[in-house]
Amino acid sequence: MKKSVEEYVRSIPDFPEPGIIFRDITSVLQDADGLQMAIDEMQALIDSDKVDVIAGTESRGFIFGAPIAYNLHKPFVLIRKKGKLPCETVSRSYDLEYGTAEIEMHKDAIKPGQRVVVIDDLLATGGTLEACDKLIEELGGVVAKNVFLIELAGLKGREKLKDYEVASVICYE
Ligand code: PRP
Ligand code: ADE
Repeated sequence: MKKSVEEYVRSIPDFPEPGIIFRDITSVLQDADGLQMAIDEMQALIDSDKVDVIAGTESRGFIFGAPIAYNLHKPFVLIRKKGKLPCETVSRSYDLEYGTAEIEMHKDAIKPGQRVVVIDDLLATGGTLEACDKLIEELGGVVAKNVFLIELAGLKGREKLKDYEVASVICYE
């Protein structure tokens, strides 16, 4: 029988620090069926007619965001860790499940009024995607939806993203 995409996710206890169960997607990507299922099932959560731009979050959001944008024939924009983008940027700091970070977007990445779907591999505390959504709004964009392969429901990311639409393929309690 065909495996579900969830069965390709590998769970590693105590990585990168004690107490964290790391949900590893490399085991999804390393399998041709797993990779295809992950992209197809994330894409199925998006109504293409209601989207102008797909955005992906560095780094694991790029893996899924670019093929979805390609399949839907939409532009793909990068939300990158600080210091990587060469032109004028807007930036925002945020807290992670472990540590803190800062992300940036090019000022010309989104035009006012464009509807943006943001793609990432995993929703944990929601800090990353809240920062992404705020940056998109700062540029005049409208966040249509946040789409994830994996949601860690216990970390209450949906509550942090309560002002936005959220959808995920796999949910861990
Ligand atoms: C991970 C993951 C999400 C984020 C989720 O990225 O890919 O982007 O953390 O956490 P949050 O919901 O608590 O914000 P990470 O910053 O580790 O970067 P990476 O994709 O480059 O590994
Ligand atoms: N990013 C933040 N928390 C994570 C987790 N538990 N597993 C994989 N990636 C993560």
